[in-house]
Amino acid sequence: MTKYQAHRLAIAPMMDWTDRHCRLFHRQLSRHALLYTEMVTADAVIHGDRDRLLGHDAAEHPLALQLGGSDPARLAAAAAVGADWGYQEINLNCGCPSDRVQSGCFGAVLMENPGLVGDCVAAMIAAQPRPVTVKCRIGVDDQVPEQVLPRFLETIEAAGVRHVVIHARKAWLQGLSPKENREIPPLDYPLVLAMKRAFPGLTVSLNGGVATLEQAQGLLAQGLDGVMVGRAAYHDPAAVLMGADPAIWGAPAPAADRAAAARAMRPHIARHLAAGGRLHQITRHMLGLFAGQPGARGWRRMLSEGASRPGAGLDLFDAALTGVAERAAA
Ligand SMILES: Cc1cc2nc3c(=O)[nH]c(=O)nc-3n(C[C@H](O)[C@H](O)[C@H](O)COP(=O)(O)O)c2cc1C
Repeated sequence: MTKYQAHRLAIAPMMDWTDRHCRLFHRQLSRHALLYTEMVTADAVIHGDRDRLLGHDAAEHPLALQLGGSDPARLAAAAAVGADWGYQEINLNCGCPSDRVQSGCFGAVLMENPGLVGDCVAAMIAAQPRPVTVKCRIGVDDQVPEQVLPRFLETIEAAGVRHVVIHARKAWLQGLSPKENREIPPLDYPLVLAMKRAFPGLTVSLNGGVATLEQAQGLLAQGLDGVMVGRAAYHDPAAVLMGADPAIWGAPAPAADRAAAARAMRPHIARHLAAGGRLHQITRHMLGLFAGQPGARGWRRMLSEGASRPGAGLDLFDAALTGVAERAAA
């Protein structure tokens, strides 16, 4: 390993999913993959409950904060707060198509206004010392990606961005739900690879439709600098993350197997319960840990039925793990 590059494999920002419990769980499977927060709007960072929005465990690093917004001054202020809170990268969301996000003029609609994105990232860079990165689509609506994407990348590179994550499909701003916008517009990996060749000075990560670690490695071998995985890493985290540290960074895997990764969460669960939290808030992110393995169904059922009951604690968690071990031994 020459230079440590966390972005080689990243877990995507996902609202309601990649909260601090989820990220700490993913850390039990990979120490090195770059993790992202859920998107937080600049206004929420400026005016909201920072402990709740930005608080995290030091063990979650390397960790990037994703911001949403389109006002350069407010994004700059929020980026500075993010840097103070210890995030090592500040990412601007230019890819999210949901209505709520469009009405605030940010997310994927920014693909139509590269000049404004340039002003936003320049202000964010000037306001604080951490790298500012951009997550974008290949275009929106009737845009021709081969034309608009190079112009978009040129603009943000000129404004000082050195790393871009490209979700390799368009977003349709009207007529498709956010979920459909992650499934219906076709993926165009060759275009993202072409962008890497056209912008050799830019660190280019690909996102969209990557399901396994092997697929991510195949894309890295084709010359991409990084691969970001979203849904597959959430639904089957071990398939994406468990072999990642040895395969990508030449480092030992933090957990010998899935059960060891689960057990490593016990101290965090105990602290969360002691502070008045619910078991389900953590275990809802762990339901896919044994996906495809013997005992997966029982694990999922026990935790999804039992963990939100008042008083559910480590006894239930341990019993669910024992259930998996018994099925595996049967
Ligand atoms: C539940 C969910 C929430 C998401 N929230 C965000 C978000 O906050 N910011 C963002 O840039 N993308 C968000 N995305 C999009 C993902 O980051 C990613 O771009 C998309 O899922 C495609 O990658 P995948 O095919 O590997 O899942 C979200 C996706 C999902 C499934």
